[in-house]
Amino acid sequence: MARFCCLDTYSYALFFISSLVLAFHFHASEAQAHPQVVKGLSFSFFSKTCPNLETVVRDHLSKVLKKDNGQAPGLLRIFFHDCFVTGCDGSILLDAKGGKDEKGEIKNVGIRKEALRTIDDIRSIVHNKCGRIVSCADITVLAAREAVFQSGGPLIKVPLGRRDSLTFNTKATSKIPSPFKKTNETIKTFAEQNFDVTDVVALSGAHTFGRAHCSTFSKRLSSKDPTMEKSLAKSLKTRCPNASSDNTANLDLRTPTFFDNKYYLELMNSRGLFTSDQDLFNDKRTKGLVTSFANNQKLFFEKFSVAITKMSQLSVLTGNQGEIRAKCNVVNTK
Ligand code: HEM
Repeated sequence: MARFCCLDTYSYALFFISSLVLAFHFHASEAQAHPQVVKGLSFSFFSKTCPNLETVVRDHLSKVLKKDNGQAPGLLRIFFHDCFVTGCDGSILLDAKGGKDEKGEIKNVGIRKEALRTIDDIRSIVHNKCGRIVSCADITVLAAREAVFQSGGPLIKVPLGRRDSLTFNTKATSKIPSPFKKTNETIKTFAEQNFDVTDVVALSGAHTFGRAHCSTFSKRLSSKDPTMEKSLAKSLKTRCPNASSDNTANLDLRTPTFFDNKYYLELMNSRGLFTSDQDLFNDKRTKGLVTSFANNQKLFFEKFSVAITKMSQLSVLTGNQGEIRAKCNVVNTK
């Protein structure tokens, strides 16, 4: 009896310890799966002061995208280029009074003006309903995650509470990656902002929709890049007779307006548009991830969501920093 009693206690203790270990393990991997929320931001930031914020963004965007679904990729790219340059602070939205602003820099070629207008239109609706309490930086983030969702992608949870910058920084646009570089360089560019190799491959999946201007890939046509499938190169050559042609091509040739994992299948078929895209299926650090995402859309969506939540929190202004702009393209007059 005593033996049974002791054995039972022993197994119970073992069970208890292994449960603790398992619980810790799951907690740790969850913590890794969902990036920590930075100080000053929160998922419930406007729950009392502007409770319908997310619905307002959703409803307005659904009307806009019905007329022009190209704005969805346009909005996601604006978000990325805002966050990579001095953080998610709405700096890309500011117009220069003279000279160049961030939008005028080479890395921002093709930024869609109509998508910039949509961000300010949403700002105007939100400010009318809730007062000037939501920043253009937050609206940029919300519009981007909504654009992904309404195009068939995941619904990404994003913390809010960002404030807008008082300036922009044209030089810092050099931090945006180049389409002409191979994976080694792309990985380095993202590592500077604390993104790992999985983030790089998942984030590149943003090229599952939208367009690119000839100047961003035409070098691959004139040099007859052997990593581009021949019939694609031929048809692109007709579209883009030279780099200065103003034409565009779809980034994902199979499903150009849907947010799905077909982009990765295209890379496996040598049908990626940029060197930076196609080389992901060449470099041994990224090739396996491309294959995994091509085979498993759920996995792609999970990794993409984690990376976007992380990106949305880069160097944010919070609390009393910066301001809440009354118009997204100009700083407030004091
Ligand atoms: C891996 C490094 C990346 C490079 C080199 C790169 C480069 C580019 C270039 C050159 C274009 C074409 C712009 C044009 O000609 O109009 C483009 C389009 C686009 N990029 Fe990226 N990008 C990268 C990563 C990302 C990331 C991380 C995102 C978002 C999370 C993103 C979202 C987009 C979208 C949605 C478009 C289509 C825009 C539109 O249709 O208006 N890109 N990218």
